[in-house]
Amino acid sequence: EDSLTRIRNIEMIELGRHRIQPWYFSPYPQQLTVLPCIYICEFCLKCVSSQTCLQRHMSKCLLKHPPGNEIYRSHPLSFFEIDGRKNKAYAQNLCLLAKLFLDHKTLYYDTDPFLFYVLAERDERGFHIVGYFSKEKESADEYNVACILVLPPYQKMGYGRLLIEFSYELSKIERKTGSPEKPLSDLGLLSYRSFWSQTIIEKLISFKEESLQLGEEKQISVNDLSEITSIRKEDHLNLYKYYRGQHVIVITDELKDAYRRMLSKCRTRIDPSKLRWTPKD
Ligand code: COA
Ligand code: NA
Repeated sequence: EDSLTRIRNIEMIELGRHRIQPWYFSPYPQQLTVLPCIYICEFCLKCVSSQTCLQRHMSKCLLKHPPGNEIYRSHPLSFFEIDGRKNKAYAQNLCLLAKLFLDHKTLYYDTDPFLFYVLAERDERGFHIVGYFSKEKESADEYNVACILVLPPYQKMGYGRLLIEFSYELSKIERKTGSPEKPLSDLGLLSYRSFWSQTIIEKLISFKEESLQLGEEKQISVNDLSEITSIRKEDHLNLYKYYRGQHVIVITDELKDAYRRMLSKCRTRIDPSKLRWTPKD
């Protein structure tokens, strides 16, 4: 790999009401890389070289939300599903934008094999992109996420968790377990580990409460937990202790901490009843 291509080449982007400093290289057209700031239409993600060009574009651009189908709405948040083949320009623009914040992912110029799930926040002006994840239409390795990104102005507010939760809700509907494509970035791994622990501990606690109410000693297996949560076995196996040929679920400090952090934050969660989606095949 050419190390020069890894050097950040865009000084600043303007996207809607945000000015954001990129983290990494992204292959935007050469003539844009000399500018102090590039301007991105927050709805179609087209990139132009000046504020004037953007204003001209905005007067013509009819989009007020990402293209594709709105498959989830829980005001003010919505998810849109975008087919990388049908909305190629949008998908390519999204990949270019995302690459500014992703170090190690190869950029997919060929967006055809992917679906893109864009999280947007609505106000009176339209639906503003917060983040997204991509997913292969067919994944040989049963990945349920390829790339995942929350734009920097929205980071550390729980949106990453929401995207991850959404990706597993899709897997539940598909009746499959899934896992994110590797390698994950440090921030990606942190977010996933936190989500996996919180989800498992939550299931264990509700399972325990259920069996207490029933007054019987029920058992739950690691396979059951995978089936219920769609989290692949190897992604939660490290949360248990192996004891006499069985995974005995000992509430480890990691699980306790995860639970405490979860309770301390009142976060938006995905409401599966608001998801209007069936897998395509
Ligand atoms: N430092 C420490 N912990 C962090 C963190 C940071 N900078 N960012 C997130 N976390 C932790 C949170 O504390 C939270 O865990 P908790 O609930 O146990 O406390 C968990 O990760 C999720 O936080 P959340 O606010 O939902 O994450 P986010 O909205 O910032 O999104 C990413 C997380 C990974 C999507 C985001 O950082 C990002 O887009 N990074 C750049 C792209 C990338 O690396 N993608 C992943 C690889 S493809
Ligand atoms: Na990654």
